[in-house]
Amino acid sequence: MKIGIFCPIGNNGWLLSENAPQFKPSFEMNKQIVQRAEHYGFDFALSMIKLRGFGGKTEFWDHNLETFTLMAGLAAVTSKIKIYATAATLVMPPAIVARMASTIDSISNGRFGLNVVTGWQAPEYTQMGMWPGDEYFGKRYDYLSEYVHVLRDLWATGTSDFKGEHFQMEDCRVSPVPQADMKIICAGQSDTGLAFSAQYADYNFVFGKGLNTPTAYAEINDRLKVHTDQTGRDVQTYVLFMVIAAETDEAAFAKWQSYNDGADVEAINWLMNQGGKDTQSGTDTNIRQMASSVSPVNINMGTLVGSFEKVAAMLDEIGEIKGTEGILLTFDDFIQCVEDFGQKIQPLMKCREGVVVDGDFSAMPILEKTA
Ligand SMILES: Cc1cc2nc3c(=O)[nH]c(=O)nc-3n(C[C@H](O)[C@H](O)[C@H](O)COP(=O)(O)O)c2cc1C
Repeated sequence: MKIGIFCPIGNNGWLLSENAPQFKPSFEMNKQIVQRAEHYGFDFALSMIKLRGFGGKTEFWDHNLETFTLMAGLAAVTSKIKIYATAATLVMPPAIVARMASTIDSISNGRFGLNVVTGWQAPEYTQMGMWPGDEYFGKRYDYLSEYVHVLRDLWATGTSDFKGEHFQMEDCRVSPVPQADMKIICAGQSDTGLAFSAQYADYNFVFGKGLNTPTAYAEINDRLKVHTDQTGRDVQTYVLFMVIAAETDEAAFAKWQSYNDGADVEAINWLMNQGGKDTQSGTDTNIRQMASSVSPVNINMGTLVGSFEKVAAMLDEIGEIKGTEGILLTFDDFIQCVEDFGQKIQPLMKCREGVVVDGDFSAMPILEKTA
C-alpha cells in the first residue's frame, strides 16, 4: 500500500477549528514535513490549489501558497519521494502547465506528476473574472478531457494541433518533454468524474468516509471499475483520510472532541454554502455529498481517531480493499504526526512491511509552532 502526505499548503491544514493547531503555510514547514515523510518511506506528496478561503475567526484557507512553485521547491530538497502539484485548469492554459510540469520533472529528476481539477468553488474564479458561468458545472469533465488531451499530446510528441470546443492548438510546442512518464491524478467522485479518470487519469483520488469506518468508501472502487472495464485501463483508487492519533484512544478522542468544540461556524457555513452551489450536475457530484458526512470541522473528511495501534489496524483494513492502491493522509499537527506515523504507526502496519526508513534524521529539529 502506498502512502502519501497531503501538504498543508493552506493555513491550519484541514481543521476549521479555533482549538486546532493554528499556523500559516510556509515553504519551511512543508519542507520539514515532506523531508520527514521521505525519510519514513512515504511514497508521494501532493498539494492542492486553493485560490480563495472560507473566512471566519480562523481565516480558514485565506492564506494559501501556490502549488507548482511550492512543489518545485520541495522537488529540489528531496530525492526519492514523488511530488504532485495541482493544475487549476480553468485559469492555467495547458501549454503552460505542460511546460511547468516538464520543468519540475527536470528539477525532480523524473519524480513529478499532476493532479488536474475542474474547480467547484466559483468565488475562486469569479474574483478574477474567470468563471465561465454555472453551466460550466455540467460540462466540467468535457473541458478537462480536452485539456488532458493537449497535455498528453505535448508530453508525448512535443507538439499539439488539437482542435476542440475549448482548446484550439496550432503547432503548439513544448520542449524539453518530461524524462519520466508523466502521471495524472484526477479526484473524480461523480460518475462523470470516474468515467473521465477511467479514460485519462493514472490514479483516481476519493474521499474516505465516516468516523473510524475505514472501508465505508469502498463502493466507489466498484463504480470506477464499471468505467475501467469499458476503457480497459488500470486506474487504481487512492483514498483520503485524516488521522488523529495518540498513545491511547481516550487521548485521541479528547483531541477530536476539542477540535469539534472549537468549530469555526462562520467558515463552515461558507463551505456548506459553496458546496451546494452546483445545481447543474443533478446527483452527479460529490461536493454536496460531503456536507452529510462525519463532521464539517474537517471538511467532512473520512477520519481515523484512536491509539497508534488502532489507527494502524484501520489503515491495514484499507490495505485489504480491492482496487485501492494508496492512502493520502492529513493530520491535525503535521510535523509531530508525521514523526508519530513513522515511528509508532507504520511499524505496526502489515501493509507497510518492508518499507525502508533511511538516514539519520535526528539532526532536524521540530519547528517551533507558528501562530
Ligand atoms: C485528494 C483530493 C484533492 C483535491 N484537490 C483539489 C484541489 O486542489 N482544488 C480543487 O478545486 N478541488 C480539489 N478536489 C476536488 C475534486 O477536484 C472534485 O471537485 C471533487 O472530488 C468532486 O468530484 P466530481 O467533480 O467528480 O463531482 C480534490 C479532491 C480530492 C479527493
